[in-house]
Amino acid sequence: MGRSSKDKRDIYYRLAKEEGWRARSAFKLLQLDEEFKLFKGVSRAVDLCAAPGSWSQVLSRKLRGKDKSEEVKIVAVDLQAMAPLPGVTQIQGDITKISTAEEIIQHFEGESADLVVCDGAPDVTGLHDVDEYIQAQLLLAALNITTHVLKPGGNFVAKIFRGKDVTLLYSQLKIFFSFVTCAKPPSSRNSSIDVDFNQLEGPNRIIVPFLACGDLSGFDSDRTYPLQLDSSKEYQYLPPTQPPIRPPYQQACQLRKSNLLAKEDSPSGVLDEALTALDLNTEADTNTTTPGTSD
Ligand SMILES: C[S@@+](CC[C@H](N)C(=O)[O-])C[C@H]1O[C@@H](n2cnc3c(N)ncnc32)[C@H](O)[C@@H]1O
Repeated sequence: MGRSSKDKRDIYYRLAKEEGWRARSAFKLLQLDEEFKLFKGVSRAVDLCAAPGSWSQVLSRKLRGKDKSEEVKIVAVDLQAMAPLPGVTQIQGDITKISTAEEIIQHFEGESADLVVCDGAPDVTGLHDVDEYIQAQLLLAALNITTHVLKPGGNFVAKIFRGKDVTLLYSQLKIFFSFVTCAKPPSSRNSSIDVDFNQLEGPNRIIVPFLACGDLSGFDSDRTYPLQLDSSKEYQYLPPTQPPIRPPYQQACQLRKSNLLAKEDSPSGVLDEALTALDLNTEADTNTTTPGTSD
């Protein structure tokens, strides 16, 4: 939690202290829940990039309820160590690492989570493009884990930095979720600008999902097929559809046609002749314009 005088004037900073939240960001999740009813029917949740733990606190208080239901399972993950919270299992790890993803999946013992939240933020460098890129990568790592642990129809909530690549992120999310929206809760600071996902334009607006299905009746490029030649038929040589216009081996072909191509065991005289012919060809070539070449 920040301690500058600006932070002390911040209403959510003071409220967080009064209500016992570890960070003012608790209000963001509470306000998102007010708008989208995120916690309805949720008994298993994952909090990615959770430290110091205010979102986990919100999940613990809201999901476990007054009777402190033991049925509720909350897994919180962060690079940093976090003070314990009731009903929250903690994993200290990097969400971009496969081992962390596997650890999270193991905690659900084959069951799926109803909700995944991620408030991840990298250490900012001050270079906006770099920060935005790293943030987007963090979000994609969170999305990757989410695709393994979230139940179909479950919700994924993640922080984004608004930037020029936001359309790409939106398209990537749209592949997995039928409804994607960008919300800015009142407690979210003004330094981040609103983005309306419904008004996006440009080439990244939509990624058409590509699904490789395979085809049992189709050719398999990893297999070698017999030629199945029919001895009663005559086969014709089929030339290349479009031969190269001016290949680097063109001179060698010409030399071979005139039987001037040097062979390894050629007497040096033949080699000299070949080289002379090569020089002559090069000279002739500089005076010729071949259609389709750019030199
Ligand atoms: C804004 S804080 C999260 C605040 C938290 N939601 C709360 O309410 O207390 C961002 C967190 O992201 C974590 N983080 C950044 N990169 C991470 C990564 N690759 N794996 C796990 N955590 C990461 C940081 O350690 C930091 O604690």
